[in-house]
Amino acid sequence: MRAALFAIAPCIGVALFVVTIISVSGAQKQVPEPLSLLLEGAKLPPTPFSHAAHAEKRKIECVICHHKDKDPKEPDKCTTCHLLKEVKDSVPTAKDAFHKNCQTCHKESAAKGVNAPTKCAECHKK
Ligand code: HEC
Ligand code: HEC
Ligand code: HEC
Ligand code: HEC
Repeated sequence: MRAALFAIAPCIGVALFVVTIISVSGAQKQVPEPLSLLLEGAKLPPTPFSHAAHAEKRKIECVICHHKDKDPKEPDKCTTCHLLKEVKDSVPTAKDAFHKNCQTCHKESAAKGVNAPTKCAECHKK
């Protein structure tokens, strides 16, 4: 039994290595689900975000949120361009960018009777 395991272990190692290489070379960014959004140094609890609820269920296009990426399916983090404290070249801060993106649509949705969160504690959840 032991001897068999010793013989198999290196094969598994090689197989995993090959799988890793293939998935890296096929580099498609994974869509994490669900996401927990939290800015560096945040004082409030994190905000949950679900791609399934937005992009799939509600059919919101990637580019609506990933608005400046060359390929919206391979996006950078919002904080790549939206800085924590500083407005540079009239790019709003990360907090303002998130609030504008999330809240504008949620308010419009709520006005149409769709139950999207608009209150602080509905997004910043303990
Ligand atoms: C539609 C969702 C949503 C609503 C409603 C919302 N926020 Fe946010 N807010 C976010 C997201 C997303 C971020 C960035 C990620 C994070 O840190 O939570 C953020 C960031 C922040 C930050 C900076 C990070 C921190 O925790 O210090 C503050 C302060 C903040 N929000 C305050 C508020 C207040 C006050 C309200 C209500 C008047 C509010 N937010 C309502 C989504 C929301
Ligand atoms: C309603 C807004 C919204 C829509 C629509 C949306 N996303 Fe996102 N996505 C986000 C937010 C917010 C993040 C977190 C970004 C961050 O951490 O700064 C994110 C993160 C990602 C990430 C991880 C990026 C990283 O480097 O961490 C990928 C990949 C991604 N989205 C792909 C997609 C694809 C593909 C679509 C369309 C099918 C899509 N998104 C639609 C808001 C959205
Ligand atoms: C590659 C850089 C880049 C990335 C990544 C990026 N943004 Fe932006 N964003 C900008 C620039 C530049 C502006 C300045 C105004 C403009 O040209 O629309 C902006 C403006 C905005 C605005 C204000 C638009 C208006 O009409 O006032 C919002 C809201 C916003 N971004 C949200 C987001 C969110 C949410 C993410 C992540 C899902 C994100 N951005 C990722 C570059 C970026
Ligand atoms: C273009 C429109 C749009 C944008 C942009 C948008 N949302 Fe939403 N969101 C919706 C709608 C519509 C719903 C209601 C979904 C449902 O219940 O079917 C929703 C629901 C939610 C919910 C509650 C349901 C769940 O997923 O658990 C959360 C939390 C949420 N959104 C967070 C965010 C955050 C954070 C952002 C910004 C990063 C954001 N949303 C941007 C339209 C939007």
